[in-house]
Amino acid sequence: MDHFEYRDGVLYGEEVPLTQVADEIGTPCYVYSRATLTRHYRAYTEALGSHPHLICYAVKANSNLAVLNLLARLGAGFDIVSLGELERVLAAGGDPAKVVFSGVAKQEHEMARALEVGIKCFNVESRPELERLSAVAERLGKVAPVSLRVNPDVDAGTHPYISTGLKDNKFGIAVGEALEVYELAARLPGLKVVGIDCHIGSQLTELAPFLDALDRLLVLLERLHERGISVEHLDLGGGLGVPYRGERPPQPFDYAASLLERLAQWKHGENLTLLFEPGRSIAANAGVLLTRVEFLKPGETKNFAIVDAGMNDLIRPSLYQAWQAIIPVDTRHVRESAVYDVVGPVCETGDFLGKERELAIGAGDLLAVRSAGAYGFVMASNYNSRPRPAEVMVDGDAYHVVRQRESVESLWAGESLLPRGAAPGE
Ligand code: LLP
Repeated sequence: MDHFEYRDGVLYGEEVPLTQVADEIGTPCYVYSRATLTRHYRAYTEALGSHPHLICYAVKANSNLAVLNLLARLGAGFDIVSLGELERVLAAGGDPAKVVFSGVAKQEHEMARALEVGIKCFNVESRPELERLSAVAERLGKVAPVSLRVNPDVDAGTHPYISTGLKDNKFGIAVGEALEVYELAARLPGLKVVGIDCHIGSQLTELAPFLDALDRLLVLLERLHERGISVEHLDLGGGLGVPYRGERPPQPFDYAASLLERLAQWKHGENLTLLFEPGRSIAANAGVLLTRVEFLKPGETKNFAIVDAGMNDLIRPSLYQAWQAIIPVDTRHVRESAVYDVVGPVCETGDFLGKERELAIGAGDLLAVRSAGAYGFVMASNYNSRPRPAEVMVDGDAYHVVRQRESVESLWAGESLLPRGAAPGE
């Protein structure tokens, strides 16, 4: 459930009419709901109840400082994949001791900084990374807590670009090799084995792949146990899907209940702290992208609604052919309904937010693209020299600008002209 609803024909975010946000802040503009983020985070912590757990929000889904700060205040940990994400978490008041560091290409300086601030765990994705981490830790006189990200080779049945737990994906250590790599980790001087980790994909709408992955990890854990290698936590990644278009993904409660039941069947399961790294299921439906219709362009074969947000602002439709609901913000106008491709200003045929949408709209009307709180702003670019949109958080009957719209001048900040006279013949 989220807190974006119509009241007397106008779309509200919590107690705030989105027409007001658009009029005062302009469009395109992302709007997030504090109550929705809170609710989605709590769905996980409540589902896990008294079983020891830590919810490490996947920063990549939406890394705005206000979002991170809100989750930190609720007690969340964080899953990061870069130094930039680590510094964001720290700037937002996140606790480094609750941070797990994923990603296939961690550089030495990133490892060093994470060791310096004392993160909870490195999710190591390959043998050479393990060796690099041990060397960096030794050099700094530290011991790095590690988990191996095991690739369990299960088909998550999701879009090929966002499946991560198959043999063919670049992520993790093959389940068949993991035992050997764990033995290496236990021997390396700069490391302490603390966990086991996997992430099989994103936008999963079934429980079965999660349970298959867990089964494979439990077999591995048993074998590790026999060899005297024990872990404190089991990190099952993120991946729980959200309803974009009538999907009915499992709720955190059912997800947690099935996993806990399976875990209880393993004799050491009760003592394992469970970590989840949810991104999308916390943030996606806690955000919308507001955009205004510039022109309606009727055509022989297609009608276009040309809006002021483009693929540079929200790339999911273009990149993954993702479907996100597009709805009018103010339904009090009387309009004729027609079927439109909703397209942006970017000079690319692939620049669309939605295709063949039936909408009763006119030029100047406001639209909201739903489910835009995750993988929205974070994937925005300046393509076509377009400043990135503002971000706003509604909170009850107030709203706060949590990121200013970029200025045109900021587009070339850091660029410079060639020195005069440097070109031959000048
Ligand atoms: N942990 C790791 C190691 C991940 O790679 C990811 C997402 C997550 C956690 C969070 O997964 P979530 O709960 O959000 O499913 N840009 C794509 C999604 C890419 C997800 C990649 N990894 C999209 O817009 O659909």
